[in-house]
Amino acid sequence: MLSLEKVNSWYGEAQVLRNVDLNVKEGEIVALFGRNGVGKTTTLRSIMGLTPPLGKGKIVFKDENILGLPPYKIANKGIGFVPEDRRIFPYLTVKRNLDTGKKSTHKSNSKTKWDYQKVFQLFPKLEILQDSLGKNLSGGEQQMLTIARTLMGNPELLLLDEPSEGLAPLIARDVINLVLELKKEYGLSILIIEQFSPRVLEYADRCYVMDMGKIVFCGCSEDLRKDVKLQKELLGV
Ligand SMILES: Nc1ncnc2c1ncn2[C@@H]1O[C@H](COP(=O)(O)OP(=O)(O)OP(=O)(O)O)[C@@H](O)[C@H]1O
Ligand SMILES: [Mg+2]
Repeated sequence: MLSLEKVNSWYGEAQVLRNVDLNVKEGEIVALFGRNGVGKTTTLRSIMGLTPPLGKGKIVFKDENILGLPPYKIANKGIGFVPEDRRIFPYLTVKRNLDTGKKSTHKSNSKTKWDYQKVFQLFPKLEILQDSLGKNLSGGEQQMLTIARTLMGNPELLLLDEPSEGLAPLIARDVINLVLELKKEYGLSILIIEQFSPRVLEYADRCYVMDMGKIVFCGCSEDLRKDVKLQKELLGV
């Protein structure tokens, strides 16, 4: 579904990503781990064209090289990005926030066509809160709204940047269950950045570990679980 080949990205003079190779197959949950500042968010931003990679690399989404396209075109191809800072509109209601995620031009192949009804089925709390302003939602509710809003664009691939960050453990568990449901019930492919934890290993099909802008591990969750040395050196476990 998605494949990065030798992707190199910079902020000004500073090179952040170095020859990043990464792929997500259809229906997979792939986790990207690494310490703070190693380039995880930049990887997602590079896929979306927000930090466009330079050089000879490729980013192929459904057999098409999308590297070099502007972000709105990439989003319209069927990639949904849920950024770390959520970006809820504080003075719009939940329903109007959901509207901002709709895409008129995207001819999506996604198995589900999302609308209020489907979203409220998946997030009953948002139905209750549909007329509340974004700013009055709790952190967990805002996170659900950010994901729901992205679903309104009917993505086939979802990029999630630390969706559990800053949430109480019980709410974080809800987020994990949601991610699993999106894969199992709705057939979404998912690339997720999270802090390393055994729980994330449980639900990820495969994992990558990044260090200083390079991919230093790629394999199944079981292999990473066994690699205590790597966990200690690169993930601070
Ligand atoms: N807009 C920017 N301008 C310049 N440098 C940046 C910018 N954003 C990030 N960087 C730098 O690029 C490097 C990678 O940042 P990135 O946000 O991708 O890391 P990360 O792995 O997501 O970290 P974290 O776990 O803290 O979210 C860091 O050294 C960071 O300081
Ligand atoms: Mg980050």
